[in-house]
Amino acid sequence: MCIEFHSPPKINYLLRIAGLLIFTPLLLFSCQPSSEDKIVIGFSQCVDDDDWRQTMYFEMQKELAFYDHVELIYKNADASNEQQIEDIKALRDQAIDILIVSPNEAWPITPIVEEIYHSGIPVIVVDRKIASDNYTAYVGADNYEIGNIAGAYAANLLPEGGKILEVTGLPGSTPAQGRHQGFLDALKDHPGLVLMDSINGQWEEEVARKEIRNQLDKAQQADLIFAFNDMMARATHQVLDSAQTEDMPVLLGIDGLFGPRLGIEMVNNGILDATFLYPTGGDKAIELAVNIVEEQPYEKENILQTTVIDQSNVKIIKSQAEKIYEQQQDIVAQQMAIKNQLAVYKNQRTLLYVVIGSLVAAIVLGAYALYSLKEKLETNRKLKSKNEEILKQRNQIMQLAQETEEANQAKFRFFTDISHEFRTPITLILTSIEDILESESPSKESFHKDIQLIKKNAARLLRLVSQLLDFRRIEHGKMELKASHGNLVTFIQEIFAAFEGTANKRKIDYQLITIDPQLALWFDDSMLDKVFFNLLSNAFKYTDDGGKILVMIEQDTDKKQARILIKDNGRGMSKEHMAHAFERFYRGEQNNSMGTGLGLSLSRELIQMHHGSIKIDSEKDKGTSFEIKLPLGKDHLKKEECIESVSNTMRSPLRGIYEEDIYDKDEVIVSEVTTSHDNSVLVIEDNTDLNKFLVNKLTSHYQVLSAEDGDQGLALAFDEVPDLIISDIMMPGTDGISIARKLKSDVRTSHIPIILLTARDTTEQQVEGLQTGADAYIVKPFHTKYLMARVSQLLQSRQMLRQHYLGKASVAEPLEMPEGVNKLDKNFLDNFRAIVDQKLSDPELSVNEIAKEAGLSRVQLYRKVKALLGLGVNDYIKQLRLTKAKTLLMRQELSISEIAYEVGFSSPAYFSTVFKNEYQLSPSEYIRSTPSAT
Ligand code: FRU
Repeated sequence: MCIEFHSPPKINYLLRIAGLLIFTPLLLFSCQPSSEDKIVIGFSQCVDDDDWRQTMYFEMQKELAFYDHVELIYKNADASNEQQIEDIKALRDQAIDILIVSPNEAWPITPIVEEIYHSGIPVIVVDRKIASDNYTAYVGADNYEIGNIAGAYAANLLPEGGKILEVTGLPGSTPAQGRHQGFLDALKDHPGLVLMDSINGQWEEEVARKEIRNQLDKAQQADLIFAFNDMMARATHQVLDSAQTEDMPVLLGIDGLFGPRLGIEMVNNGILDATFLYPTGGDKAIELAVNIVEEQPYEKENILQTTVIDQSNVKIIKSQAEKIYEQQQDIVAQQMAIKNQLAVYKNQRTLLYVVIGSLVAAIVLGAYALYSLKEKLETNRKLKSKNEEILKQRNQIMQLAQETEEANQAKFRFFTDISHEFRTPITLILTSIEDILESESPSKESFHKDIQLIKKNAARLLRLVSQLLDFRRIEHGKMELKASHGNLVTFIQEIFAAFEGTANKRKIDYQLITIDPQLALWFDDSMLDKVFFNLLSNAFKYTDDGGKILVMIEQDTDKKQARILIKDNGRGMSKEHMAHAFERFYRGEQNNSMGTGLGLSLSRELIQMHHGSIKIDSEKDKGTSFEIKLPLGKDHLKKEECIESVSNTMRSPLRGIYEEDIYDKDEVIVSEVTTSHDNSVLVIEDNTDLNKFLVNKLTSHYQVLSAEDGDQGLALAFDEVPDLIISDIMMPGTDGISIARKLKSDVRTSHIPIILLTARDTTEQQVEGLQTGADAYIVKPFHTKYLMARVSQLLQSRQMLRQHYLGKASVAEPLEMPEGVNKLDKNFLDNFRAIVDQKLSDPELSVNEIAKEAGLSRVQLYRKVKALLGLGVNDYIKQLRLTKAKTLLMRQELSISEIAYEVGFSSPAYFSTVFKNEYQLSPSEYIRSTPSAT
């Protein structure tokens, strides 16, 4: 996968502006010469230890001061050709833009200069020339012309003729050659002038001095000495002067430099007769070099002007030269100042640019920061909303998961409940069969009763199975509507009639109201049969005897729908249950026809297949009403959903079996069955058949109390305090587990053994049941014999307990409770015995007083004590008085009368009577009979 990152266009734009702002000062910088615009001039000087060469360098520097971008690399060959060749090569290697060369001698230097020139580097030759034209430009005076002018000047000085001596420069250098030739050519016209010799001073003062000294005679004989430069002329003069030459020859020089001891000064002093100006051309050479590199127009040959300086003009020239010199000094000073200013300016400009740059950067960064902040806020906002969305989705997922979990739980519950629903009818069928098999000569009546019960419960099982199958068919789309045209009124009347018998028996006000005797409708008989049968079953189930059930059939005002109302004034249901009433897997607070919500859910599916609707309205303890609406006509039905009318026999094949299952509520079960049996057993079971069955079985052995739901059962348990309770676990209202928990944690009832009946048979469930304190847990279906055995076993163990307690009638002997006995009961007994013991000497001690102190009602105290100790409270007090009296009598510390009062008898006579009745001995006889008395 490839991910591309794009800066937002706004950022691009901003960055471009920032770049522009940052780089503008830099652009200004770049207007200054960059390294690319810089000109590097290489200058190879043949020699530099004389004033003329110094002047040339000074003039170059002066000119360079006008250019910021020109750099001069300077090399001095010290009058050596070899050195100069090396210098030029070195300059070339330094990547110069142009070469200025003043060759030492022409021939030796020419090849390297040509090489440079041919390599593309322009070459300016100054002063001395090379031996070819392969150079870019030349700057210098015309040496031939200078020599020629000097010759003419000499002729003018020596009109009569005379002897002339030359002091020349290096013979291989072009100025030496030019000057000599020009001079010779000028002398040609004057035959009286004889060039007696040429002394080679090699352009240098010291060399010339030495040579003149060597040839002093010649010099002294000469009428005129023409030295090729002023410094060699000065050396000549010095040698002649120190030789005290009487007839000083005329002395001519070249260069005409201004300065102490230099040409102009020497003319002014009379040392030289004349000098010929030979300009260095240093400034010109630099100017020319810049022009050439910058490709400006230029001259190849730049010949500098010469002039004669002698006594006639030396003063003016000197003063001019002085002025020029001063001006030059000023210029230099100014240039220095400018340079300094420029440096300051440059620094300041750089600083300014840095400041501007920083400012711009700060502004841009500030803007960027602001922009980023905005972007960040925006991103945060987006993230927040995304987060919220994710959170919402997470919640939805969690809710979905929870709903799925709930649905699953409901499904599990549903299947568990379905299995439970199967267990009760199976128990009844099995126990009835067991009964038949066991009774040796059953009466016809009891046999019939058993068979009836079996049939009824088999029918119930069949109905359950049939409903389950219907659901399967609906779920798999196998249930098809087969509507035929019929009269809804007659159809409902038939179903209505099936419940009339029950209604009569149970004194229920049961009515069918219809306005029209005829209501034509397309409907599937077998489906609607189930619906109405189910709804009526429910109504009968939850309506008490003497209640009211109403069925109403009518047409809507717009005659588009049939409306059927089934209304009862029975138990009703809470809002919460009502909201889930049609949910298939919802288990309500009370059993409906299946106890699982299956009937109502199926009814709704069937009504919906008719394109109709079913609504429920119910209020707890007020009643329930169902409203069904079915569309008239057949436009809403598909062709294949309509069939020809069916024969009656096809209708509801299970009808007969259903009718067996009509909820046939018997007289109120909560009735005390009075028998002479000692122990009382309370049966709490919501299934009427099983309840009746258990009551029947138990009646022959015990006093039986019965309740049809948990609340009723609890109330009875507290009021009657039975000796044993058998309770179903799954019941409307308070379930068996809660009943056991409540009874076992209440001192009034904690002693009562409880047997829980259930369809839940996993170990965990049994453990849960027993943890409540229940004494036994019996799983449906069960054998009656087993149940009866458990009941009697539990009652017997109570009996044993009683005997155990009774042996210990004094507080002095603490109770050692057998294992498994409720702690509450032990505490109760301890408490009860302490109360009695404490008040034993009070002859007025009453049951009421003790009950009050123990926090129970009189009856409850009586029942509890009776159950635990097998004695009434008064009997127990009497027992305790007598036991204590016996102990005191044995100790013989008190008189019989004292003992009588001590243990709470109102008179010694009464004590004696009661004691004798109990032990067949009077107190005094008892004392005599005990071993300790003797
Ligand atoms: C200086 C110098 C000058 C002369 C020139 C000739 O080195 O000798 O005096 O005019 O060179 O090249």
